[in-house]
Amino acid sequence: MHIRVLGSAAGGGFPQWNCNCRQCAGVRNGSLRAQRRTQSSIALSDDGVDWVLCNASPDIRAQLESFPPLQPARRLRDSAIAGVVLMDSQIDHCTGLLSLREGCPHNVWCTERVHQDLSTGFALFTMLSHWNGGLQWQPVRLNREPFRIPACYHLRFCAIPLISNAPPYSPNRGNPQPGDNIGLFIEDQRSGASLFYAPGLGQVDDEVLDWMQRADCLLLDGTLWRDDEMRVCEVGHSLGSEMGHLAQSGPGGMLEVLEAFPRQRKVLIHINNTNPILDEDSAERALLVRRGIEVAYDGMDIVL
Ligand code: MLT
Ligand code: MN
Ligand code: ZN
Repeated sequence: MHIRVLGSAAGGGFPQWNCNCRQCAGVRNGSLRAQRRTQSSIALSDDGVDWVLCNASPDIRAQLESFPPLQPARRLRDSAIAGVVLMDSQIDHCTGLLSLREGCPHNVWCTERVHQDLSTGFALFTMLSHWNGGLQWQPVRLNREPFRIPACYHLRFCAIPLISNAPPYSPNRGNPQPGDNIGLFIEDQRSGASLFYAPGLGQVDDEVLDWMQRADCLLLDGTLWRDDEMRVCEVGHSLGSEMGHLAQSGPGGMLEVLEAFPRQRKVLIHINNTNPILDEDSAERALLVRRGIEVAYDGMDIVL
C-alpha cells in the first residue's frame, strides 16, 4: 500500500494566512526551523497508478501539482483520482471537492451523517449536481463490514466511528453522533499490511484501541500539544477537547495512549499551526523523537 501525505496541517494550514503567532510569523520570516504545511489530506493506492483521496482539502490544487502520479496522463483530461473518502464534513476536509468540479462525476464515500451535512449546511452534493453528474454518493456504513473502491481492488476499507466533533455549521456541533467522524482501518490484502487513519480523534475508546493494535501503522490526530493551546497562544478560546481533538500532552493524552503501541509505526497528522512539534528545535519535538513518534509532512511517502 502506498500512502502519500498531501497535506499535514490542520484547518488554516501552516503558516495560517491571518495568523501572526510565534510559529506562523517565525516560518514566514525564517527565524523558525519548520516546514510549511497544507491542509489535511492523504492519498492511498495499491499499485501506485490509481489513487483514493482521503479527504479533499482547500489546498487540493497545489497538492495535485506537487504529486505527478495524480496528474493527467491517460486521456486529454483526467486524473488518477479513483474516488474520495471523507472522514467528516469539516471544511478543511471537504472544500477541495469544489476544486474538482471540472472532473465530475466523482464517487464520494461518506457516512449518512456527513452526506446530510454536505446536502444542507454545506450543500456540496446539491450544488455540484449541476456539474456533469456531480458527486455520486457511495454510503459508508458503520456495521464494520469492509468496503472496496474498485480501482484499488486490493485495499479493504473499514469505517470506525470516532468520538470527535461535528463541524461548527452542523446541527450536531457539540453533540456528535456516530457517523459524524470516522477513522479508517485499511488493509492491503496482498501484503497483509494495514493502516489506521484518524485525523480527527477526540477520545480513544476500547474499540479504537483494538483497531490500533491490529494496524501496522497509525496516522493519528496531531492537532494540539496542549488541550488549552489555543488559549495559551491567545489565538482562540476553544479547548481541544471541545473541538474533538485529543491533545498529545497531559494525562490520558496521545503520548500516553501511544505507549501501548511499541510495534506500530506512529505518525501524527492534521497539526495545528500553534503546535510546538512543528518547531524542529522544540523540546516537544525532541520528546516525540525519543518516543519514536513521527510528525507527518507534506510529501511524506509511507509504503506498507
Ligand atoms: C477541526 O479539525 O476541528 C476543524 O477543521 C476546524 C476548522 O473548521 O478549521
Ligand atoms: Mn480539521
Ligand atoms: Zn499561527
